[in-house]
Amino acid sequence: MHESGVRVSHGRDARWANGAISTRGSPQVKTEIEERRIIRKMSCGWRKGSWIPHQYQKSQGNQKKVVTKQPSQYCWCSASFLIYISLKFQHNFCITGSDHHHSRSKFPIKISSSNHIPQKMWIFSWNGPTGFSASSTAEQVTRGIEAYGLTAIITGPTSGIGLETARILALRGVHVVMAVRNTTAGHKIKQEIVNEIPKAKIDVMELDVASLKSVNKFVAEYKSTGFPINILIANAGVMAPPFTLTEDNIELQFATNHIGHFHLINGLLDTMKNTAQKSGIEGRIVILSSELHKMSYKEGVRFDQINDEKSYNPLLAYGQSKLANALHAKELSRRLKEEGVNITVNSLHPGVIATNLARHTAWMRVIFGYIVRLMLKNVEQGASTTCYLALNPGVKGISGEYWADNNISSPSGFVNDPEFVKKFWDFSVDLVDRTLTSSSL
Ligand SMILES: NC(=O)c1ccc[n+]([C@@H]2O[C@H](COP(=O)([O-])OP(=O)(O)OC[C@H]3O[C@@H](n4cnc5c(N)ncnc54)[C@H](OP(=O)(O)O)[C@@H]3O)[C@@H](O)[C@H]2O)c1
Repeated sequence: MHESGVRVSHGRDARWANGAISTRGSPQVKTEIEERRIIRKMSCGWRKGSWIPHQYQKSQGNQKKVVTKQPSQYCWCSASFLIYISLKFQHNFCITGSDHHHSRSKFPIKISSSNHIPQKMWIFSWNGPTGFSASSTAEQVTRGIEAYGLTAIITGPTSGIGLETARILALRGVHVVMAVRNTTAGHKIKQEIVNEIPKAKIDVMELDVASLKSVNKFVAEYKSTGFPINILIANAGVMAPPFTLTEDNIELQFATNHIGHFHLINGLLDTMKNTAQKSGIEGRIVILSSELHKMSYKEGVRFDQINDEKSYNPLLAYGQSKLANALHAKELSRRLKEEGVNITVNSLHPGVIATNLARHTAWMRVIFGYIVRLMLKNVEQGASTTCYLALNPGVKGISGEYWADNNISSPSGFVNDPEFVKKFWDFSVDLVDRTLTSSSL
């Protein structure tokens, strides 16, 4: 043992790291210079520049040992990491395949053949009870469904998951009403879809979901068209912007992701109920949440601090707004069941998909632009759970659930706490009422 208390660990490690050193057998005591030389030698092997530290100090009594990791440890570490990530993201981890058809994320819109193989080859992806998995695409989960005669409203269909959802619904014959804040972009998207699907029936209507005034205007205009509503998809969303208050003085993420949709759905509910009653067809409300709803503030929802700039954390506030989506779906479904209305309400996590959602944060743009785009779901897969919930007969009668990867999943504990859910509903009603009263809308 050297004075410094540093000792090179097991000879076997050293031998593996550099074939020239063979100290197998009992541990050998080295001088400090010798030890450093060996450590340096070991560092210049295949692990040089590795981001995993391959040597670490271990205390043994008042002695310190330099321990070198064995290659098998790297394999186990990597395998465990992959398994952890794949389970954490609910089987979303995959390896990019070579099917060029699907390498696009947004434009130009192409209708792939009905027998296509998903572009990504998934590991740890298996079919759930519905027969679909994380790798199923929106086309696959709606294959064979003819939905002519149904009308759907979808918010935020100018980009990402919403755009693909609008395309698939139109492909299956649904009359799609695109609720967009930018009507020029909306008409452009409509034209793209019609170019690909000439029979598509699409209307574009203006809606800024972050403004209660705009929501009121949309609801009035929609009702004046006399269109029915079979399906309502609350998809529009923003993630992690810097702290911003909307014109209604509500924090932007909470206003866009939850309050605007809450008010919209309440405003259109009577039309949906009439449609369901007259047609005898089950109405469906689909609310886009996120797995990040489990990463909200520790109180779940900060009832007294929704607009508190000082304690605002962009990602936790996103989690809070997505928790709001799951709570909203839970309580609305309970209420509709109680009324005996033929409308289901479900929330979902679409997966992790490279869309424009990361536009507000530079580091997230990098993650979404490279890691997510290459390794996680594509938009066709990202829109599948929404399309499954909107159209698949397998969902009939199922309401109040949280879904991921086309199967029922488990939401956070807050969503399963009936008192919390009810408190949240009352809070939302109160916030909308107060806002409408104060701005005399
Ligand atoms: N991508 C993911 O990994 C992921 C994961 C979990 C959950 N989600 C959820 O999935 C949903 C769709 O997200 P995405 O990934 O498709 O994002 P995206 O590509 O950014 O699309 C968001 C859509 O929402 C619209 N929008 C935003 N604010 C609006 C407002 N005030 N009024 C009306 N429309 C508004 C956008 O319109 P503009 O084009 O005009 O901006 C756009 O069409 C969101 O609710 C998101 O939280 C996504």
